[in-house]
Amino acid sequence: MAKLRHLVAGNWKMNGSRSMAAQLIADLKAHDLNAGGAGLAADLLVCPPFPYLIHASEFLMGSNIALGAQDCAPQESGAHTGDVAAVMLKDCGCSHVIVGHSERRTDHGESSAEIAAKAKAAQAAGLIAIVCVGETDRQRDAGETLKVVESQIVNSIPAGSTTANLVIAYEPVWAIGTGRTATAGDVEVVHAHIRKLLLAGVKGGEGVRILYGGSVKPSNAAELMAVPEVNGALVGGASLKAADFLGIAAACA
Ligand code: PGA
Repeated sequence: MAKLRHLVAGNWKMNGSRSMAAQLIADLKAHDLNAGGAGLAADLLVCPPFPYLIHASEFLMGSNIALGAQDCAPQESGAHTGDVAAVMLKDCGCSHVIVGHSERRTDHGESSAEIAAKAKAAQAAGLIAIVCVGETDRQRDAGETLKVVESQIVNSIPAGSTTANLVIAYEPVWAIGTGRTATAGDVEVVHAHIRKLLLAGVKGGEGVRILYGGSVKPSNAAELMAVPEVNGALVGGASLKAADFLGIAAACA
């Protein structure tokens, strides 16, 4: 199977300001990592909070860095106060949207069925849905990692998903923002299992990128990005500093 090009996605979460977004994107563009293509090992994506998307899309002009959001509504439009429709994200210049991040599964009680509905809405709007999965430390200690991830994959991926409209992010909940990362061996087992499920359930499943997320930083990126079936990273904390984010991208071989 052809090697998939890595995608390094920055999930800014609820951080930043308009001026910070301008500065961070200017720093990313200045490195020009993604503009010329020479020696490039990864595609870059930034996912700022909703209010900054429209500005970010302007700041990103002239670069190949893609823009994504952190969530979307399952509905197309209508009386859903506080929600944001996928078509609006598309309208603001987004190409991607993260759905089912563990912080949304936990903070907002989102079920896999709801996440599948969000991913479906995203795909219908012409966006690439980045569907997040991952076990808690209790589930891991109970030996349930593969079972939990399988159930999330099977129930969170909508019918009609293809290589062109789906990315998976495996993020063990215990590794997010904690400084703890899964070992390369742990990651390999889970990613291999996810690939098997994608091959069985998604058209073009061999081409769907599977990102790893959870305390990825420049110092551990090379080892994690070299794991078979790891096709990039979903980066939280380290995506807020251009040097760290670019350092992770540079570690993709
Ligand atoms: P982290 O977050 O890199 O800060 O651990 C990753 C994520 O939640 O996407």
